[in-house]
Amino acid sequence: MKTVTVDLGQRSYDILIGENLLDHAAGRILPHLKRNKTVVITDENVARHQLPRLEKSLTGAAIEFETIVLPAGEATKSFSQTEDLLEKLLSMRLERTDTIIAFGGGVIGDLVGFVASVYLRGINFIQIPTSLLAQVDSSVGGKTGINSKHGKNLVGAFHQPVLVLIDVTSLETLEHRHIIAGYAEVVKYGLINDPAFFYWLEQNGRALISGDRETRTTAIQKSCEAKAAVVAADEKESGMRALLNLGHTFGHALEAENGYNDKLFHGEAVAMGCVLAFQLSYKMGLCAKEDMVRVKQHFDALLVNRITDFSFDVDNLLHHMKGDKKMSDGKLTFVLAKGIGSSFLSKDVNMEDVKSILKDALER
Ligand code: GLY
Repeated sequence: MKTVTVDLGQRSYDILIGENLLDHAAGRILPHLKRNKTVVITDENVARHQLPRLEKSLTGAAIEFETIVLPAGEATKSFSQTEDLLEKLLSMRLERTDTIIAFGGGVIGDLVGFVASVYLRGINFIQIPTSLLAQVDSSVGGKTGINSKHGKNLVGAFHQPVLVLIDVTSLETLEHRHIIAGYAEVVKYGLINDPAFFYWLEQNGRALISGDRETRTTAIQKSCEAKAAVVAADEKESGMRALLNLGHTFGHALEAENGYNDKLFHGEAVAMGCVLAFQLSYKMGLCAKEDMVRVKQHFDALLVNRITDFSFDVDNLLHHMKGDKKMSDGKLTFVLAKGIGSSFLSKDVNMEDVKSILKDALER
């Protein structure tokens, strides 16, 4: 088992990564419970494939628990599900010192984390992420939230978990497109500041995607280390944490224009967004063509769906981008790149350049 620590003083916590950790989860969870009682919140898919393993471990350790199963999918990150969940926990008389467990992908982690942040003004929660995207990104770092009709993740809170438990074998029941979607966030860490990791992924990405456990464990550990370092340095995103949004300003606009349906997963939109960020950087004369092409080729070889498979409207995309929560003083902050592994933040982007690269990308 590998351990990565997120160093946040008194709120520091460990990320445990390994094979079959779900079957031994209780031993890791127990030290965090102040009462021998917890609530596991999950979705229908995870309940079908992975919940029995967690339940067996909790039962074996005589931990009392209740389980709440929510519908799978992005639509669950809503005001109405938040209200229902809070009312349900209140009716269960969960106390301030109790701990809830978010067991699922990014949707469950974000929603349950948000509910934990406001339930009785904040209670402890544990993340047991089961999707690659959640394991390498969303379960770590304390960003929680739900969607509004105005956009994704616009309502939320920073609320750190007390433990993140990552079982790489839980990825084995995920469909291929979900693996690719999570993989985009793995590649992102290489593109931000670790060129050697990107080159390693060029060699090993296929093995990771096809299910090789060792490659998966290494990539998840690397990703969590990268994320933990950024979060420890800038928990509330007053500066460098924004680099983790590489590909996200474009990606969120693609998702919004697609109507947040499952034809385009968040991670797939991020992959497309990373390519667009490199194309914009190249267009602005910041990044060598070779690096831009290398990033595009890496994703093109793996992505199941392409940006050209959708009928996105450029003006609508620009409109969505302007509604992004990263706007400040009326300007958008972009994550651009001087090359692979050399990303930086910029407010100095001409929207005509953005329009032009979007037009090119959609025409190809
Ligand atoms: N997913 C970006 C962040 O956690 O800051």
